[in-house]
Amino acid sequence: MPKMTTTTQTHLSQEGAELDRREFFTRLGLGSLGVAAAGTLAFYYQFLSPNVLFEPSPIVNAGKAINFPRGSVTLDVDSAIYLVHIAEGFFSLSAICTHLGCMTAWKPELNMIACPCHGSRFNREGQKLAGPAPKPLPWLKTWLSDDGDLMVDRSVTIPELQFLRV
Ligand code: FES
Repeated sequence: MPKMTTTTQTHLSQEGAELDRREFFTRLGLGSLGVAAAGTLAFYYQFLSPNVLFEPSPIVNAGKAINFPRGSVTLDVDSAIYLVHIAEGFFSLSAICTHLGCMTAWKPELNMIACPCHGSRFNREGQKLAGPAPKPLPWLKTWLSDDGDLMVDRSVTIPELQFLRV
């Protein structure tokens, strides 16, 4: 086997380094193309997929009327409604304050609905008693389902004092 000189060894190792560097840049280039292609695909996927906002149904099943004794004011925090049962019958109110949209709360000790944000007060029929709220709490369409459940449509307001007699 011929003996390599130091110059030949240096030349070969430079050639190897050149190959490694060439391969490194080739892989870097391919990687960059892959990242660019993935970004383009992600952009087109988002661009082509429908931009739809899925909102929950405005209709709430509040359950059986027997669960709401006469004189009760029940707040359903999840659907932001009050279900009220008085001598005249059932009705439901939006629990969202008509000032700036805060969730109100029933205060049984004060016999009123109160807004914690800026101090608006409403009676149990939703009429404004005090504070900056410009309107009463709206009455919501309330009916009895075929199964005997109290149903509320949060998207339909009705005139005040329309009671549901069960
Ligand atoms: S949001 Fe209720 S008083 Fe302002």
